[in-house]
This record gives sequence, structure tokens and C-alpha cells, in this order.
Amino acid sequence: MSEFQTVRGMRDFLPEEAKMMRYIEAQARRVAELYGYKEIITPVVESYELLSAKAGEEVRSRMFVFKDLGGRDVALRPEFTASVARLVATTLRNEPRPFRLFCIGSIYRYDEPQRGRYREFWQSNYELMGSSKPEADAEILMLTNSLMREAGLRKFAFKVGHVGVLRGLFNQEKLEDKVQSAIMQLMDKKQYDEALKLVEDAGASEKCMTTLRELVELKGSNVLVIVDKIEELVKGYEKSVEAAKNLREILELVSKSGFKIDMTVEAGFARGLEYYTGIIFEVYVLDMDIALGGGGRYDRLIELFGGEPTPAVGVAHGIDRIMLAVQTQKSMQEIGRGKKVVVIPIKEELRAEALKVSQMLRDAGISVEVEVMGRKMAKALEDADRRKMNFAIIVGERELKEGAIVIRNLATREQSTVKIEKILDAIKD
Ligand code: HAM
Repeated sequence: MSEFQTVRGMRDFLPEEAKMMRYIEAQARRVAELYGYKEIITPVVESYELLSAKAGEEVRSRMFVFKDLGGRDVALRPEFTASVARLVATTLRNEPRPFRLFCIGSIYRYDEPQRGRYREFWQSNYELMGSSKPEADAEILMLTNSLMREAGLRKFAFKVGHVGVLRGLFNQEKLEDKVQSAIMQLMDKKQYDEALKLVEDAGASEKCMTTLRELVELKGSNVLVIVDKIEELVKGYEKSVEAAKNLREILELVSKSGFKIDMTVEAGFARGLEYYTGIIFEVYVLDMDIALGGGGRYDRLIELFGGEPTPAVGVAHGIDRIMLAVQTQKSMQEIGRGKKVVVIPIKEELRAEALKVSQMLRDAGISVEVEVMGRKMAKALEDADRRKMNFAIIVGERELKEGAIVIRNLATREQSTVKIEKILDAIKD
């Protein structure tokens, strides 16, 4: 039999990576709790019809689709939003609004594997459903900012746009829905020339074309100034003007609330998912050109799934990518803060004492591994070194008589005799 490997695009997480992943996950849960988002767990497998309804061509074409043994067309979830919307359209339909719902788990997309792009990846996803107010959009931006900070990232920035600006133009020009979606997909991939060509071919007016050409060039970090310019540019397109005003309201709320968020507004920004109706955004770190998270407002999805009209806004963060960014920014010292200790008895008769000391340290919140292989001291220390433990506690007869142990700093190789009740102080130093 040939040597087995993981399927292309799939990864194993070895202990270090698994630990990092769980750490980011813990931060995501903490943020959910801080903002009042309740966790729900939805299935990995959903009906293809549900998942594909508004996923957009890009995501739709990359779904893992199959027939189950009952002949149903199903797929592995390429995101959480459709599942959450399904729940709110059905089981939760009569529950009081707003909903603040949190999901965390694995997501599947047949993307071309590369650094930060996998076929199985993890998202933390937050949906705020039932409010059309700008403070709801502001909350999702602030929550994302909090998560990035909690994860340990320092330098990151938001790219922000509003789907309503472009849709307002296209609707007034009476472009068909299908054509609009195709244009947005191209814009999402920054293929602006091709996108503009489609608009032109669809019979848009010269005024529309001029406006669009200027819009796709318009971006900047002086966000309120850029929004003013957008509003000025789209004059005469009523819905687009409304969209610009909505964007201004959200951004003003964020800045007046004292939140310092590094942001750029891009008038020609589009996202691949088709359900967005309002603000859209993505988060980036300076040294990586892939998004760590993305989201936006989608006011009609729940209705589309047969539920009550329910405006909604949400975001998903790519846990794998946050891990990469954190590693790149080397801000992981905090994770390593917990010192790692091995406890080694000098001889068999001292095993019980070794267990006792270990337990005492664990009770104080220190991570302890006790020697269980019966190795000689030198071998056990060598192994502790290899595994990058911080301290070895050596339990010997002579010291024990004095109520003490020997503590060895594995980095400096210094060792000293310390009273058992003082071990914690020695480790903390
Ligand atoms: P999305 O932008 O498609 O949005 O994905 C969100 C995040 O998932 C991305 O920013 C990225 O960090 C991560 N991600 C996407 N594809 C991959 C991949 N192949 N490998 C690793 N990470 C990846 C959504 O999924 C929407 N459901 C967000 C949302 C929620 N909008 C409203 N509510």
C-alpha cells in the first residue's frame, strides 16, 4: 500500500499549531461573550440548494457537493451565514429580535491551496439579526476590531465599501440581476475593465459609465471625505446617495464612539457573496495581502429563505489566517506566558512525592508534566530540553528531608535548592 498523506488542501494540526488554534478560538469565544453573542452549532452538511442560493458564483463553484445515500443534493458548508439565516427563518422565527448569534467551526471551499488558503479552514462567525440601524453595523466593526486585538494583532486595517452605491446605479439603469451579480464578481476580483465592459454592454448610460469610472478610482483613509466625494459623484442616483449617507452614519458612529479603527473606504469595493445589501468590509494586516475576516449587511436573505423580513449584518473571521498573522507579527509571547515544568524523581521510591509536588503546582495553575518513563536524570533532562520546557523540578531524598526540591532553569542551566512552598516564586521569577 502506498504511503498515506492528507488529501490536497487538508492539514493536520500538530500540538503547537493545535494549541495556537485553540487559543485564537478562545479569544473568539471571549469576544462573543463580551458582546452578548450566543453560540449555536449548525451542521457541516446542508442542502446544496440552501448553501448555493446567494453564495455567489465564486463560492458556489468551489463547494464540496455530493449526493448522500438517500439521493439528496448536499454540500459541506462554505460559510455559516446561510445556516444561521435558515434557523432564523424557521425554528427561531417567532423569537424576539435582535438575535446575536455566534458560530465557530470548520468550513470547506475547493480553493487553490497556498499560504493562508486551504480547503478546510476555520471561521468564527457573528450575526446580528433584526436591526437595520447603523449602530448594528458599527457593532460588527467594533467586535471585529476587538477580536483582532484580543488575538494579539497590533497592525491591521479595514477596507470598507457599500454595496448600495453600485447597486443603486445598476438598478436605476435597469440592469438585470444576473448581469449585476456578474459585474460584482468581476469587481470583487478587481477586474474593473472587464466589469465596466459588462456594464456598457448591458446598455448603461454614458452618465453611469463616467460615474463608475470615477468611483472605481475613489479610495482613501480620510474616510468621511471619501464618503462625501462618493455622494457627490452619484448625484441623481437616489438609492446610491442613500447608501453613501448610510455609510457616513455608520463611520461617524464608530469614530464618535472613540474607537480608533484604521480604515480605508473604497467606492469600487465588492465581495463575492451575493446576499450583501449594505456596508461591506474586510480586515487586512500590512504584511499579508489576504483578508483575515470579512462581512457586511444583508437585509433580504432571511426573507428569501421564507422567514419574516429581518435585516441583518455579520462577519466571519478566518482563524487560520489570524494564526498566520499573529505568528508573523511575533506577538505570541503572551501565549507562552504559562511556564512549562517537568517533575523528575531521582529514584523510584520518590514517585509519590513527585506526583504530590506536580499536583500542588497544577493547583496553582502551572502546567506540569511528570516523568513517567522511569528514565535516568540525564535522559529525562535531555528530553525536557528538547521539548522546550522551562523548568525541571528534581525530587531528591536529601532535599526532601529539608522540605525542599532542586529547581533547574532549563534555559540557563542554573539550579538551586528551594523550599517546596517557595517553588511558585522561583518559577515566576
Ligand atoms: P468570506 O469573506 O467569504 O465571508 O470569508 C470570511 C473569512 O474566511 C475570510 O476573510 C478569510 O479570512 C477566511 N477564508 C475564506 N476562504 C478561506 C480559505 N480558503 N482558507 C482560509 N481562510 C479562508 C463569509 O464567509 C461570510 N459568511 C461572512 C459574513 C457573515 N457576512 C455576513 N455575515
